[in-house]
Amino acid sequence: MIKQREHWGSKFGFILAAAGSAVGLGNIWKFPYIAGENGGAAFVFVYLICIAVIGLPVLTAEILLGRTTQRNPVGAFKKLSGSKFWTAVGGMGVIAGFVILSFYSVVAGWSFGYIFEAMKGTFSTFSDASFAGEHFNSLVGNVTWIVGFHGGFFLLTMLVVYAGVKGGIERGSKIMMPILFVILLILVVRGLTLDGAEKGLAFLWNPDWSKISGQSVLIALGHAFFTLSLGMGAMMTYGSYLTEEDNIPSAAFQVLFLDTLIAILAGIAIFTAVFAMGQDPGAGPGLIFHTIPVVFSKMPGGLLFGVLFFLLLTLAALTSAISLLEVVVAYFVDELNWKRHQAVLVFGLLTFLIGIPSALSFNVMADVKWFDKTFFDIADFLASNILLPVGGLFIAVFVAWVWGFDKAVIELKKGAVNFFEKNDWMIVAWKFFLKYFAPVMIFIVFLHSIGLLESAVAQIKQYWGLDVSGLILLILLIRYLKK
Ligand code: PHE
Repeated sequence: MIKQREHWGSKFGFILAAAGSAVGLGNIWKFPYIAGENGGAAFVFVYLICIAVIGLPVLTAEILLGRTTQRNPVGAFKKLSGSKFWTAVGGMGVIAGFVILSFYSVVAGWSFGYIFEAMKGTFSTFSDASFAGEHFNSLVGNVTWIVGFHGGFFLLTMLVVYAGVKGGIERGSKIMMPILFVILLILVVRGLTLDGAEKGLAFLWNPDWSKISGQSVLIALGHAFFTLSLGMGAMMTYGSYLTEEDNIPSAAFQVLFLDTLIAILAGIAIFTAVFAMGQDPGAGPGLIFHTIPVVFSKMPGGLLFGVLFFLLLTLAALTSAISLLEVVVAYFVDELNWKRHQAVLVFGLLTFLIGIPSALSFNVMADVKWFDKTFFDIADFLASNILLPVGGLFIAVFVAWVWGFDKAVIELKKGAVNFFEKNDWMIVAWKFFLKYFAPVMIFIVFLHSIGLLESAVAQIKQYWGLDVSGLILLILLIRYLKK
């Protein structure tokens, strides 16, 4: 029996679901703090360039692979290549889904728990960030609290995915994304109307170019991947529920636009408040959980805005988490003929369990370390610095070189003929960025993040005085893969 594949109810439904996947902890928790640590405006500028020249081409390629094959990442690569190697690349995406979701849900659980902290009025007792930091540490040090909210968040994620593509993910995104947007606008207005808000805006808009280094470019590029949910097949899986009537390039633009808009708005809401309340913008990963509660304790109406803020963060994380679980579920449904309900229950529970050591990394397992990293750090490092960049590199190389750029263009034009008649140059641009620019850049970032780049560069410089190691290694890799 051939199973009828479920499809999105509308292109708009897809855009909200895909934007829901993209907009998450990456935009509201990670983006402001890495921008804060890397000098604000200049970093934002570099990040925007990375999004445009690497994010957009790879996003388009991923959605296209999904729609063309109507499969999960494993099935997609298998169908187009028939090769074991490329099928394994798809498998890496499914594994990345597991790994990311396991620790993502721990941080999402903190946010979930903080909604209740905010409601109880706990923030009003915080006189400064160190006090808020201690409170945060005592919460995450409590096994019941951290595992409980990790589990609660997981349950919500499973519930949405359980209800299916149209009835769960699409419907959920159509409800949650507008709420998220309205809350964000309220917080932006609140931030902008505080005394001293202009200092926060200046931090976001006045670039200090001296802060831009190779390192910050690499961070910006890595983040472009994470925030657009690229490199592990989430966008591919969502793309597989599209039909040939849907216009992929225009959908990709809209998803990218919404993701970027929300990151920038979150930056405005957070930095205006942080500067107006005299807090430190470079506080790092604790910015949201240490600094923001203090900001709310000092702000008129802080109780309400505090609840809204953590509700916003939790909803954003939820629409991302469902896309991670959906990758795993789609694999078992498509390839192994599981029922959706079974797959959600079994793999939801399993991923929750795999997440427990990540949750325990903040208390009983804090001293269990490999290479000086806790379980949580390892899961995060493995996913963000290895699986996603490598996955993104493979996707770009696969579409442009293995499947073949010309075949990809024929598929891409389906549903978008008029679009390309008006914007012919886009094909040329897509070709350049997908075929050459993105693979080279991603490869350099990847080598850097695992620390190989420095030593390779140092060696090559010794011989030629040139900075071309990444390029050479990449050419070798492509030649190997084409064989
Ligand atoms: N894009 C999500 C965020 O910004 C994270 C994510 C990564 C989701 C990869 C799905 C796949 O938080």
